[in-house]
Amino acid sequence: MLLLGAIKINCATLPDNSTDVLCLQAFRHEITSDPFGWFISWNSSANHCLWPGVICSRAHPGRVVALQLFGLYLAGQISSSIGNLTFLRTLNLSTNGFSGRLPPLKHLQKLQVLDLSVNQLQDSIPDAITNCSNLRIVDLATNILVGEIPPKLSLLYNLSHLRLSRNNPIGVIPPTLGNITSIQRLGLAYNNLTGTIPDELGKLTNMRMLALGGNRLSGGFPRCLFNLSKSLQVLGLESNMLSKQLPPNIGDALPNLQELYLNTNVFEGRIPGSLGNVSGLGTI
Ligand SMILES: *[C@@H]1O[C@H](CO)[C@@H](O)[C@H](O)[C@H]1NC(C)=O
Ligand SMILES: *[C@@H]1O[C@H](CO)[C@@H](O)[C@H](O)[C@H]1NC(C)=O
Ligand SMILES: *[C@@H]1O[C@H](CO)[C@@H](O)[C@H](O)[C@H]1NC(C)=O
Ligand SMILES: *[C@@H]1O[C@H](CO)[C@@H](O)[C@H](O)[C@H]1NC(C)=O
Ligand SMILES: *[C@@H]1O[C@H](CO)[C@@H](O)[C@H](O)[C@H]1NC(C)=O
Ligand SMILES: *[C@@H]1O[C@H](CO)[C@@H](O)[C@H](O)[C@H]1NC(C)=O
Ligand SMILES: *[C@@H]1O[C@H](CO)[C@@H](O)[C@H](O)[C@H]1NC(C)=O
Ligand SMILES: *[C@@H]1O[C@H](CO)[C@@H](O)[C@H](O)[C@H]1NC(C)=O
Ligand SMILES: *[C@@H]1O[C@H](CO)[C@@H](O)[C@H](O)[C@H]1NC(C)=O
Ligand SMILES: *[C@@H]1O[C@H](CO)[C@@H](O)[C@H](O)[C@H]1NC(C)=O
Repeated sequence: MLLLGAIKINCATLPDNSTDVLCLQAFRHEITSDPFGWFISWNSSANHCLWPGVICSRAHPGRVVALQLFGLYLAGQISSSIGNLTFLRTLNLSTNGFSGRLPPLKHLQKLQVLDLSVNQLQDSIPDAITNCSNLRIVDLATNILVGEIPPKLSLLYNLSHLRLSRNNPIGVIPPTLGNITSIQRLGLAYNNLTGTIPDELGKLTNMRMLALGGNRLSGGFPRCLFNLSKSLQVLGLESNMLSKQLPPNIGDALPNLQELYLNTNVFEGRIPGSLGNVSGLGTI
């Protein structure tokens, strides 16, 4: 094992199928804990496309399209070689103990699903993520990510799910997020974000779930959300510094609400009677 640890494996972004196996080996060599022995069968007795957690392309034999290693208590760094798996469409390493930096993303232009949630990654979200223009799902929740939420995320116009909840970023909710009109779920909860909720979120008329609880957001109830009357089902604004009166017509403006969280703010006045009109509302 000592010897293996000393070998530096490189894999290139070549247009042939000989290098993906080297990228996977390099990834494996940076993993320091594998309590279930998941990687024992990652050996040369079988083609790497048969290794557990690895899925290859049918059209391009040997090219890795998905790497899915969920909930295996793996620890160590995510090797930068992952960033050279240029056919990758799904990277799901959720719910492990990975630490250190995010892998470089700029060559992963086919990537559609990036789920690195519930790890201990410490990095800022790089602007280079916008190179992955096919991304549909980005879930980086429950890590230790820092820095600002990049306004350029709005260039990911195919995103339907964006979850960055439970990290350590600073700053505001970028108004540019209002440009990602395909978004259906937006989770920025428990992040210590400041400022007001940008009116631009009212442009996200496909949004079904918006979770902004557990920040330090101020201002009144965001009336821009009344624009989302057809889509919005779950709204979490709890544990912020939102103030003033709730709009009396909130229930008539958001008739499809199923869950609404407003607790632990500094709202004034009455609970709007119109909420009684929202027949599907199960949780207030
Ligand atoms: C990724 O590929 C590039 C170019 O093909 C190469 O220079 C680089 O060393 C590779 N990275 C890793 C970690 O193997
Ligand atoms: C190699 O992987 C196979 C499964 O593909 C496993 O049965 C075998 O025990 C592994 N060999 C070693 C030396 O670990
Ligand atoms: C690479 O592609 C060739 C031709 O399609 C195929 O025969 C070979 O098995 C592939 N290599 C790997 C490692 O899958
Ligand atoms: C990642 O894998 C787990 C386990 O299969 C799954 O529950 C989760 O939905 C996957 N993440 C995404 C974004 O699909
Ligand atoms: C990828 O990102 C880098 C810098 O982040 C940029 O220079 C490059 O032009 C981008 N490539 C594509 C194809 O978008
Ligand atoms: C991303 O969006 C573009 C333009 O709307 C579309 O052509 C493309 O097929 C989408 N990609 C995916 C993976 O949905
Ligand atoms: C994105 O949104 C910002 C602020 O809402 C706006 O100024 C900008 O023009 C938009 N960009 C694109 C490409 O739509
Ligand atoms: C939130 O931000 C404030 C001021 O920037 C800081 O004092 C506080 O420690 C932060 N809280 C957390 C949980 O990071
Ligand atoms: C409401 O949505 C329309 C398009 O559906 C948009 O033009 C308008 O700016 C939105 N209003 C707000 C407050 O976001
Ligand atoms: C409930 O809906 C009915 C029918 O749309 C309306 O007349 C009534 O004013 C609403 N109640 C409240 C409290 O908004």
